Amino acid sequence: MAEFKQAPAGAAMGEKLLTWVDNRFPASKLYKEHLSEYYAPKNFNWFYIFGSLALVVLVIQIVTGIFLVMHYKPDAALAFASVEYIMRDVPWGWLIRYMHSTGASAFFIVVYMHMFRGLIYGSYRNPRELVWIFGCAIFLCLMAEAFMGYLLPWGQMSYWGAQVIVNLFAAVPFVGEDLALLIRGDYVVGDATLNRFFSFHVIAVPLVLLGLVVAHIIALHEVGSNNPDGIEIKAKKDSQGRPLDGIPFHPFYTVHDIYALSLFLMVFTAIIFFAPEMGGYFLEYNNFIPANPLQTPAHIAPVWYFTPYYSMLRATNDSMVNVLAGLVAIGAVLAVLKGRFSAKGKIALLLVALVGVALLKTFDAKFWGVVVMGGAVVIMFFLPWLDHSPVKSIRYRPDWHKYVYALFVVFFAILGYLGIKPPSEIGTLIAQVGTLFYFGFFLLMPWWSRLGTPKPVPDRVTFNAH
Ligand code: HEM
Repeated sequence: MAEFKQAPAGAAMGEKLLTWVDNRFPASKLYKEHLSEYYAPKNFNWFYIFGSLALVVLVIQIVTGIFLVMHYKPDAALAFASVEYIMRDVPWGWLIRYMHSTGASAFFIVVYMHMFRGLIYGSYRNPRELVWIFGCAIFLCLMAEAFMGYLLPWGQMSYWGAQVIVNLFAAVPFVGEDLALLIRGDYVVGDATLNRFFSFHVIAVPLVLLGLVVAHIIALHEVGSNNPDGIEIKAKKDSQGRPLDGIPFHPFYTVHDIYALSLFLMVFTAIIFFAPEMGGYFLEYNNFIPANPLQTPAHIAPVWYFTPYYSMLRATNDSMVNVLAGLVAIGAVLAVLKGRFSAKGKIALLLVALVGVALLKTFDAKFWGVVVMGGAVVIMFFLPWLDHSPVKSIRYRPDWHKYVYALFVVFFAILGYLGIKPPSEIGTLIAQVGTLFYFGFFLLMPWWSRLGTPKPVPDRVTFNAH
């Protein structure tokens, strides 16, 4: 057994209590390691507020969720009315519900910004690969959590949205129908589906999410934070082993984050009080109509945060599959002609491409749409190994790289916009170009990230005192 420390004679009650706790639980040690002696780069900018904001939104979602569950009824016959009851009769129920529904959109805004920051400063690269991978897993969980939560109010959009998405799984070759049946628990979305989605939404996914968030932060604190210059501050330390360009997280960044949080809460509460539906983007109008399995809404669209991926799904029609088959063939021929492969390697490559084209042409475009949609998220896991640029941060990359990132954002936003709109010929064409750009951005990154001359990276971070 470790030896117990003693509080100094005459110590205050609080100090004695802390010593008692420290002898049994590493409270002071954790506080030092993660706050007062966690040295973060001194050049963080406003992009660095989104991690803490994501934590706050996570807490808001859990706390409001607990109160919603006290009054919500996970029963197809009662669910819609129980939400109306929360809105009208439960004291402050409307506030709790709007905090939760606005929190869902806020979560995605905050997390998209957080991911974008990681993307432009190269925060996913060595040694932070696991921080990024845990982040991507969090993002997947968040999508599952939001999707299943949306079924719970049992409105028209809840019902038909779930119907459309679950039916997609039926497109998986051989096992699709059984898979869709397993997810629904019935031949159509019904009471069984509502019950299992409820169970996943309130307990299973949040548990995994919390575990992943803890892993995400432990991994980050193990390697230390990146910064807008993409310079490792641990490379230059003082005589006591503290990074020269590091400052203690507490109080410097706790104050920074509290300031950001107050700004965030102003916007968040303004939306809750004045525009909780946000023009139908945060809460769709069709969802104020009870689910009716006999009446399909004229236009079914997911909530805004899913629409870029939904657009990619819709863009994958027969002509898109032909384009993909053509690209696989061209890619293989180019690799054989230009790549440094042995004769056996070349034959293997051509065979793989041939099988790829055959599969593309064999299975339905709907299935490939599902693959494209899933692939758009899965590909992010591989980012640490796709980026071969000699420098981490966008600050020191060739200027034209910035345009590539800007185009990526523009296409992502356009895909998001198109996913909200009913399908049209021109819309589909633009979505196809956007989808190809999205995948090209990632898949061709090993090539384009190396091109151009990077700017010289300074030894120490750039920092201007305010
Ligand atoms: C519930 C969602 C999430 C929470 C609560 C969360 C929390 C945090 C926190 C507190 C930090 C440290 C502060 C900061 O650098 O902003 C951080 C850093 C980081 N997160 Fe997340 N995160 C979440 C989701 C994600 C996702 C989805 C990704 C990427 C796919 C991601 C990637 C990263 C990276 C790469 C860093 C290190 C940034 C750097 O050092 O420059 N996170 N996260």
